[in-house]
Amino acid sequence: MKVRQFKVGPMDNFSYLLWDEETRDAAVIDPAWQPEKLAAFSGENKLNLQAVLLTHAHPDHLNGLAPFTDPEGRRPVYLHDADYFMLEAKPAGLKTLSDGETLQAGALKIGVMHTPGHTPGSVCYLAGGAVFTGDTLFIGECGRVDLPGSSAESLYDSFVRLAALPDDSVVWPGHSYNGDTSTFGVQKEYNLYLKLARQGRRADFLKAVA
Ligand SMILES: [Fe+2]
Repeated sequence: MKVRQFKVGPMDNFSYLLWDEETRDAAVIDPAWQPEKLAAFSGENKLNLQAVLLTHAHPDHLNGLAPFTDPEGRRPVYLHDADYFMLEAKPAGLKTLSDGETLQAGALKIGVMHTPGHTPGSVCYLAGGAVFTGDTLFIGECGRVDLPGSSAESLYDSFVRLAALPDDSVVWPGHSYNGDTSTFGVQKEYNLYLKLARQGRRADFLKAVA
């Protein structure tokens, strides 16, 4: 599986394309700000776009969604239903997600981990050793929990689960804050929040995110 990271927009968001090298079956994650960049790459590389994956419903992660939806709804747009309240309109093909399920996007298999905290419906997507963490986990940071629907307690529980991922898993975050990519092994060592969660230090975690 191949991953391409695109830095887009005024808030240094990341959109992603991932694809199977043999079939070219592909998925796009968080199409935002400059969808034409993603579409051009997809076209040049002859990718067969099978699905759209949203890590959560904040507009800076999905304001470039429209060109990737199919008006007949034949291309699934995955978003956890706990975030539907933030959508201005439901896109064609909208499908919800469950924790632990495996999505099949053509030849691609993508695991879903529900990681509420930043928003109630935040998810991380797992594929081929890559973990797309949206605004849940950044390099050396965690997502904000002072927004409508945020919960520091839920974020702690999510970080406890993330801290159990293998060290060689690659972090692909939702923004370019402090860095663009890392591994969970490195983050367990240097990301204060992941470290506290790994050590079971709930009170310290809640104090640190406040
Ligand atoms: Fe966000």
